[in-house]
Amino acid sequence: MKILALESSCDETAAAVVENGRTVLSSVVATQIEEHKRFGGVVPEIASRMHTESICAVTEQALADADCTLSQIDAIAVTYAPGLIGALLVGVNYAKGLSLGSGKPLVPVHHLRAHIAANYITHPDLEPPFLCLVVSGGNTLLVLVRDYTDFEVLGRTRDDAAGEALDKAARALGLSYPGGVHLDRVAQSGDPKAYAFPHPHVDGSPLDFSFSGLKTAVLNTIHTAENRRQTVSVPDVGASFLHAVVDALENNTRTALLMHPEMHKLVLAGGVSANSVLRERIFNLAKQMHVQLYLPELSLCGDNAAMVGAQGYYEYLAGKRGTMSLNACASMPIEENV
Ligand code: KG4
Repeated sequence: MKILALESSCDETAAAVVENGRTVLSSVVATQIEEHKRFGGVVPEIASRMHTESICAVTEQALADADCTLSQIDAIAVTYAPGLIGALLVGVNYAKGLSLGSGKPLVPVHHLRAHIAANYITHPDLEPPFLCLVVSGGNTLLVLVRDYTDFEVLGRTRDDAAGEALDKAARALGLSYPGGVHLDRVAQSGDPKAYAFPHPHVDGSPLDFSFSGLKTAVLNTIHTAENRRQTVSVPDVGASFLHAVVDALENNTRTALLMHPEMHKLVLAGGVSANSVLRERIFNLAKQMHVQLYLPELSLCGDNAAMVGAQGYYEYLAGKRGTMSLNACASMPIEENV
């Protein structure tokens, strides 16, 4: 079964053709990074306009690369939540038009489910159930993936997402957007013990995360130094902050594995799963805990439509369909089955 998948939840316009949820026949991503860079972050209005400009060409390219026409496609999958509402609406409305015009079924896909499904492409043998740490720009979650469309959230961030905190710290350190990527590079030459940032935990909820206090601590360190006309070592602050964030991610994942000894597989997902420190620490954790580790390939960590096609296949098999009244949602729990 061939699915044409569309993704426009943030600053990447993407289209892909995916066969049976696992084989990527084509994947095209038009990134807007250069456009948003000069503002230091994503400008939602610009993102929506750029999606509108790119979506036709990106979709045509994906079909051409897969050597097929719309008539050879069996279903159209689209990210409908969560994300920037104006950006999501571009993909959703375009997909609705394609579905109406072609008569092909429309399959709405949750963006975080799609990030998890990136692993089905990288690891053709991976099947639920497994424990998944989802770390993206807007979300940080520990999830039990009971089945392809059955999720139980064990822990979530109470405030900022890890990616968001990394981006804000990077910006304060003068690194360009998207900050997490540059922080990863700069931190490699820094001393992670140079600054003692707090190690946050949420009382009574050992699997929940909180990154806003840690983010404030790094911003205060930078601003205090600026006020005193002192210079901070960007690599040292970056490395200390990154390691504090990764400590929290690693600790909660360890606790989740201890609380769920029936889970023998650990999966990492989301844009921050490209981070070199996180990958190494989760690799070592999986070894210590004797669980099988699955990491998404680097090209599938960030937003793309191949992962939407992978999850779309399983949503299709579960009977999920979108009608012409399908709407985009800026926020939606991963567990929700609409
Ligand atoms: O999953 P994603 O592409 O967007 C959402 O769906 O939210 O994640 C984007 C986030 C940004 O915060 C970006 O800075 C971060 O992923 N990111 C990284 C790295 N690559 C991307 N953070 C740390 N290290 C990286 N190598």
